[in-house]
Amino acid sequence: MLGTFNRTLRAALKQAQPQLLSGFRSSQLSWRHMMQIRACAAGSATFQTLEDCLVLNYGGTPMRLNYLWLRDHCRSPSSYNSGTNQRDLDTASIDLNIRPDHTTVQDGHLVLTWPGGHVSKYGLSWLAENSYEAKQQSTVQPRVLWNSDIYKNANAPSAKWDTFMSSDEEVKTFLQNYLLYGIAFVDDVPATVEATEAVTQRVSLIRETTYGRMWSFTSDFSRGDSAYSQLALDRHTDTSYFQEPCGIQVFHCLRHEGTGGRTLLVDGFYAAEKVRQQSPESFELLARVPIRHEYIETSDNHQNHMTGIGPVLNVYPWNNEMSLIRYNNYDRSVINTIPHDLVQRWYVAHRELTAELRRPENELWVKLTPGKVIFIDNWRVMHGRESFTGLRQLCGCYLTRDDVLSSARCFGLQA
Ligand SMILES: [Fe+2]
Repeated sequence: MLGTFNRTLRAALKQAQPQLLSGFRSSQLSWRHMMQIRACAAGSATFQTLEDCLVLNYGGTPMRLNYLWLRDHCRSPSSYNSGTNQRDLDTASIDLNIRPDHTTVQDGHLVLTWPGGHVSKYGLSWLAENSYEAKQQSTVQPRVLWNSDIYKNANAPSAKWDTFMSSDEEVKTFLQNYLLYGIAFVDDVPATVEATEAVTQRVSLIRETTYGRMWSFTSDFSRGDSAYSQLALDRHTDTSYFQEPCGIQVFHCLRHEGTGGRTLLVDGFYAAEKVRQQSPESFELLARVPIRHEYIETSDNHQNHMTGIGPVLNVYPWNNEMSLIRYNNYDRSVINTIPHDLVQRWYVAHRELTAELRRPENELWVKLTPGKVIFIDNWRVMHGRESFTGLRQLCGCYLTRDDVLSSARCFGLQA
């Protein structure tokens, strides 16, 4: 599909601006003929200065480094404030055709001298870590994708209330599990809203929504949402109707006098990876076509109309790693963002994903009991529940994703 898109784009550009494409081809030819190739060996690093980039061979993978990018990423004191970790250089002041006058490798650094005499030094390991080629080959967040057996066999430990509230090391272990599996538990939490709030604040900030900061509800239909009923709920992600869905969901069942009500958890990334393997075109369609989710509430006390627009699957384009799944058949709105010839194919792709999500072996069922608090990555793991009888009181909240990931990074975890 990407190929089709690119062909379409090129055709459109050709029609509108024939000189643009022909100019592009001739400039491509010219730099291929004109490129200077200079090679220099220094320790384990070699480089070539081409017309449009510097090719650095270090650590096994050739890196193609754009000259403008190199000047923009200069870490000298006049260009970058290492105290605040902020750029001081005005990027707009750089000549778009800048090239270094002199290039060398010294003492583990690439050293460039620019026109006018400014010298930039880049650690070779810094370049190797921060190049596009490195990011293509690495994951942003390491994860263990799971079905029910994989998760159970992993024996990921639950944190315990007492140590969780007093030990940063316990919070770090908890966050590591959370990052890997997209779910994590804290046990032995007092069955109160206040204790639930306290345990979440060990991790991050609470994200206030129309449902409040901390919410606590029973099946009293107090809000215009099916969550406030006793009905079974199919697997879904929450707040898909936000432009940025809530990152983390916290649940704590404070009380249940009745039957049923188990919580269903499904790793959406595991299911989506199956679709990618079996039907790459369907995966790509789900990753490229934006659709709308919507929440309309018109009760006496609450008036809401929210919409969120985005594809079912979000994928980082540089390494094809999934970052977010938006899947909520309840809240999916009118599909009017897809031309008619794609609608049938989109439904087929959506059905393939749904079939994977509904495989019994992919379903993890847990009984939430008083004391057990679950944290769910709402960008990855879906939740649902079976129907129940009797009084069931649930409390919880959403957490701001940025702050959870920030906490994890401050512990030295990759996120
Ligand atoms: Fe939900």
